[in-house]
Amino acid sequence: MKRREFINAALTGSIALWAGNKLDGSAIKLLSLMPGAPQSADSRIEVLLDEPIGKIAPEIYGHFVEHLGGVVYDGIWVGENSKAPNIGGIRRSLVEAMRRVKPAVVRWPGGCFADSYNWRDGVGPREQRRRRTNFWVDAPGWPRGAPDGPWKYDPNHFGTNEFIRFCRLIGAEPYLAANLRSQTAQDFYEWVEYCNSPANSTSPAEMRAAAGEREPFKVRYWGIGNESWGCGGNFTPEEYAAEFRRFTAWVPRYGVNLAFIGSGPNGGDLDWTRRFFAKLAERRALGGMWGWALHHYSWNVSGGRTTDWFQGKGDALNYTTEEWYELLREADRMESLITDHWSVMGEIDRQHRVKLVVDEWGVWHKPGTEAHNTHLLGQQSTIRDALVAGLTLDTFHRHADKVAMANIAQLINCLQSLFLAHEDKFVLTPTFHVFEMYAAHQGGQSVRTIFSSPRSSYTRNGQPATIRGLSGSASLHDRQLILTVTNPDLGQTRETEIVLRGASIKEVKVATLTDKDIHACNSFDNPSRIEPKNSQITPRGAGTLVFSFAPASVTRLQITLA
Ligand code: AHR
Repeated sequence: MKRREFINAALTGSIALWAGNKLDGSAIKLLSLMPGAPQSADSRIEVLLDEPIGKIAPEIYGHFVEHLGGVVYDGIWVGENSKAPNIGGIRRSLVEAMRRVKPAVVRWPGGCFADSYNWRDGVGPREQRRRRTNFWVDAPGWPRGAPDGPWKYDPNHFGTNEFIRFCRLIGAEPYLAANLRSQTAQDFYEWVEYCNSPANSTSPAEMRAAAGEREPFKVRYWGIGNESWGCGGNFTPEEYAAEFRRFTAWVPRYGVNLAFIGSGPNGGDLDWTRRFFAKLAERRALGGMWGWALHHYSWNVSGGRTTDWFQGKGDALNYTTEEWYELLREADRMESLITDHWSVMGEIDRQHRVKLVVDEWGVWHKPGTEAHNTHLLGQQSTIRDALVAGLTLDTFHRHADKVAMANIAQLINCLQSLFLAHEDKFVLTPTFHVFEMYAAHQGGQSVRTIFSSPRSSYTRNGQPATIRGLSGSASLHDRQLILTVTNPDLGQTRETEIVLRGASIKEVKVATLTDKDIHACNSFDNPSRIEPKNSQITPRGAGTLVFSFAPASVTRLQITLA
């Protein structure tokens, strides 16, 4: 089934099919081992310090929050009278953990929900807000016995002000998604007015002030709809281009450098990108767009047996060796999705003024491992998901010149979450640990790396298959180099010679995330089962070191240069 059909299913409450993305294969060419490598080393990483790619935008470390299942209610918003410790209704443990990963930006309120959301329902005195039917109320896949509650009938206790407060508490910029399917451009302008108009200047500003927010929020990032090819209105690219122009024309600025993000393609749909860009360019409207949103989920572990949206998925915890590699193969498609869309965008936007915003990415397993039955699309997480996170973030770094923002889906209790929570219980997932390890890359200069490592072999639908072996990225921060590496191989430790071209190494600190049991997870009962281990290594020569990357691992090397 196509994603468009899935979205229709969510809209209508019926079950349909979502066609899978075609496998594009790896874009990285493996180089043969260089002479002079240590006898035992089977892999080599060369870091080309003098070949910069671009600055790693901190916004690549963005998050996504939708009114979906347990994300907002039970995840973020517990209410002031909850037994879960909270800061004015917002889960305290979440705020504290988020600060550790340095989140640059959070997207809200959806997702598909955004195109059914009336922002006015979520402002004003909380007790007077209207309870509204949630977009996902009839979605296929609610866990058995899920009762009615705020996840189905939204009391709007978490609205614009609460979201902005959450962003402030965690130190992130807000990214709001406008409702393009079921509201007008006027409604959008007025949301901008509510958020950004100066104190005492407008009635919405007075309303904002009455709720304790005199000063404008200065929201910069605005998504113009979501998945407009599907739940966001089932538009053709040409129709969506007309709507995009209407929504973004003459939006009041209030001194804010507004950044509009267009609703981009579903995975490899190059036609959507090409036709939208062509249509916008016809009216010279490309300049009004800051970012082009790409969505990619890794879900099909069937080894090519099916592209059915439901049949193709596997379990979050119980998976075979084949499913391990298949999920990583799916995640590795990110590389070609970025380069393919980038090249199509460049056919029209020759100077590449518009950047890519991967504002939904992550793994999507079949239901059954959610922490609570109100957590629609909730799932557990293992070291396999951690590898997907590391591999994907490394891909973004390697394309730091193209990717301006990315938002993992979704923050808590849903899909590839960093956290699971229910009432006063809270746990960090392996994906959280990757985000914390990788946060050191933020703001650094991404430099070119050459990875040379044997491919990992497995049996795919009865046939021999491979995926790429070690992969990763490097970034430079004054005299410190951050090198992150994933080893997808389930059996092979990769003894690796690491060469820094044009630098000497003083000190190396290591953090590694792995687990002998690839099905293990962190749970409310055992929250620290998977955590990174720290160590230190001594360089072999001036600019060379040798390191063994454990099977099924994510590693960060913090290299201080002499
Ligand atoms: O993240 C879950 C859903 O996936 C989002 O609401 C939608 O945009 C996408 O299809």
